[in-house]
Amino acid sequence: IPVDPFDLVIFGGTGDLARRKILPGLYHRFCAGQMPEDARIIGAARSEMDDKGYRKMIGEALDEFIPHTKREAERVKLFLERLHYTPIDAKGDGGWKTLKKLVRADVVQAFYFSVGPALFGDLATRLHEHEIATPESRIVVEKPFGRDLESARALNKVLADSFDEHQIYRIDHYLGKETVQNLMAVRFANVLFEPLWNAQYIDHVQITVSETVGVEGRGAYYDKSGAMRDMVQNHLMQLLCLTAMEPPSKFDPDAVRDEKLKVIRALDEVPTENIVRGQYAADDEQESYIAHSENPASRTESFIAMKVDISNWRWKGTPFYLRTGKRLRARMSEIVIQFKETPHSIFGEDAGSHANVLVIRLQPDEGIDLRVTIKEPGPGGMRLIDVPLDMTFADALGPEGEDVPDAYERLIMDVIRGNQTLFMRGDEVEAAWRWTDPIIDGWQSRGDRPTQYEPGSSGPEDALMLLHRDGRRWREIK
Ligand code: BG6
Repeated sequence: IPVDPFDLVIFGGTGDLARRKILPGLYHRFCAGQMPEDARIIGAARSEMDDKGYRKMIGEALDEFIPHTKREAERVKLFLERLHYTPIDAKGDGGWKTLKKLVRADVVQAFYFSVGPALFGDLATRLHEHEIATPESRIVVEKPFGRDLESARALNKVLADSFDEHQIYRIDHYLGKETVQNLMAVRFANVLFEPLWNAQYIDHVQITVSETVGVEGRGAYYDKSGAMRDMVQNHLMQLLCLTAMEPPSKFDPDAVRDEKLKVIRALDEVPTENIVRGQYAADDEQESYIAHSENPASRTESFIAMKVDISNWRWKGTPFYLRTGKRLRARMSEIVIQFKETPHSIFGEDAGSHANVLVIRLQPDEGIDLRVTIKEPGPGGMRLIDVPLDMTFADALGPEGEDVPDAYERLIMDVIRGNQTLFMRGDEVEAAWRWTDPIIDGWQSRGDRPTQYEPGSSGPEDALMLLHRDGRRWREIK
């Protein structure tokens, strides 16, 4: 279904995110017929360039980032005709008058701040002062949204000076992932799970986001950030919230975000012994974390595992174990709901102990897998085995299955539709920093060092111990 006509201005339109994610995503939506005839995309950045130059640049980006089989020369050409460009000086007055003339007042206006947070304030203020934005315009801001509570508050304030909260779309691209939304469907569109979705039936939850890439090329940003700021405060926190939240009364932005906020506020402080930090070492083929960082004595973590408790009726006694890291054995993101064993086994000890597991796989092979216990087929008596009830989305969607839309495509279309459900609200971001700040401050004041781990492993041994000591184990990263 096509969205309303729009003008989407991408500040930082020549940057890496725009070329790698935003424009390829828009191209896919264009091919899917979602972009109306008179929708326009306007790149704005410091470089002097005209429409033709920009179209050429983005054409090259599409060649680079969209597989050959998924683009057609004719369609690419038609898509590129939607692109325009105007040079802009975010810190001065250059280019704003031209932009004002370009942006139409009678269509949906969205301004994507695909720039560092240091420019958010400048852009918001200039859009306002030059009377380009209207009370209905939308702005899209990228992470990192601050680096602690204080800076996030300052960003919220500077945006609030020119825009109302209903106009601000704070992106966490994890919320745009197909499976993440499916988590909500599984929880709230089935009667099967909700009665069991609590500490009485769930032993624990594991959330793993494991990556094989290191921090090459991003060392300067990453070293000031680390896994806690880069991944836990936002992506893993969002996954935790959606898993743990109460059912919202409806699938509407504030109802959903109110429930997520309550979860963040119910998180306990995390004692030091419940956190493991790691930093990847070198191996024969690849360099160590330190080699990519500007600081040879860097104490920044590229891995973190933690045990998190939620103090409310639903979850008291059911820990959430979070783990994320770079340069690990495999790229794998999943949420594991480990149910408890049956209270009593009528089949005797020989049948072994069995418990249901629900795995929500975010990537790769997006899908949902429920493990149930059945009798082993055959005459061997009452032996029990666990079998998967597996739903891989690619199969469920048929031959087009591999075309599950990318997170960015979906989120940008939500901006145009004016749906904030999958975007973070200002108070949510602040609450997440309020929880992470004391943890990070503690490391800094004590001078804690992360433990080195081998690249291609599943992180430091201590991370395994975090569960072992509770009589549990992580699902394997593979
Ligand atoms: C980004 C982080 O937000 O998410 C990166 O800054 C990380 O460090 C990336 O690699 C992971 O996203 P995805 O979609 O590849 O899992």
